[in-house]
Amino acid sequence: MVCKTYKQKQKMRDACRAAATILDKLCKMVAVGVTTYDLDQEGKRLMDECEVKSACYGYRAGSRIFPAHTCLSVNDEVVHGIGDKKRVLKDGDVISVDVCVSMDGHIGDNCRTVPVGLVSPEIDRLLKVTKEAMYLGIDQAIHGNRVGDVSHAVQSCVEGAGFAVITNFVGHGVGKSLHEEPQIPNYGKPGTGPKLKRGLTVAIEPMVNMKNKDIRMASDGWTALAIDGMPSAHFEHTIMVGNDRPEILTIPEGAEASPGE
Ligand code: MF3
Ligand code: CO
Repeated sequence: MVCKTYKQKQKMRDACRAAATILDKLCKMVAVGVTTYDLDQEGKRLMDECEVKSACYGYRAGSRIFPAHTCLSVNDEVVHGIGDKKRVLKDGDVISVDVCVSMDGHIGDNCRTVPVGLVSPEIDRLLKVTKEAMYLGIDQAIHGNRVGDVSHAVQSCVEGAGFAVITNFVGHGVGKSLHEEPQIPNYGKPGTGPKLKRGLTVAIEPMVNMKNKDIRMASDGWTALAIDGMPSAHFEHTIMVGNDRPEILTIPEGAEASPGE
């Protein structure tokens, strides 16, 4: 969506702040012994408290309907994992917590991969590189640049670090709907693709595997798994394209001064 009026921008900022605040709280709850079902239930409770709706719950892809309030993907689960009472987090795991909410007809989408207890140095590096790639992509989201500038920045960072950028899923425009034009692939050439305009709101979201970029679908029909069976990482912010710098919209309440994460 291209936000043209102050009102539209403000609605996107509000939806995104709620999405980020909920994500932040869920990430702080991640610990050894917690189940992904507990996290999803807490996500639902926080959404009720903020009077927002999950943009995942009931999301349709053909005949499939997403059954959970958040996406919770552990280790080799890349995206769209479903909270499960039997999935107990253990020391050394990583979990991608993806929260997208709808508030007053506008959607905010964000994700972070967080460690559970102590993870190996290589997994720690995977998380750092994926987050760094997201910020380098975001830096390119300025008026007059092209989608390929964002894509290329992400890809160079990931591949430069020796990891594999996933091509089956892409970032996307986000606004009144969760997935809008343009698509923002995490690979591409500078100076190619659609032009970015000030006021355009997009989700920039690198998904990164350790060895092999390919994925396969789990039997639940939703969860995407890394084909190499190794941990995968996913960081996402919703941003607004600016004249000379992007505005990151998914900043939690009270963290405006130091977005950090
Ligand atoms: N943030 C996820 C995405 O952009 C949310 C998907 S909702 C789901 O793909 F229902 F598909 F899980
Ligand atoms: Co998204």
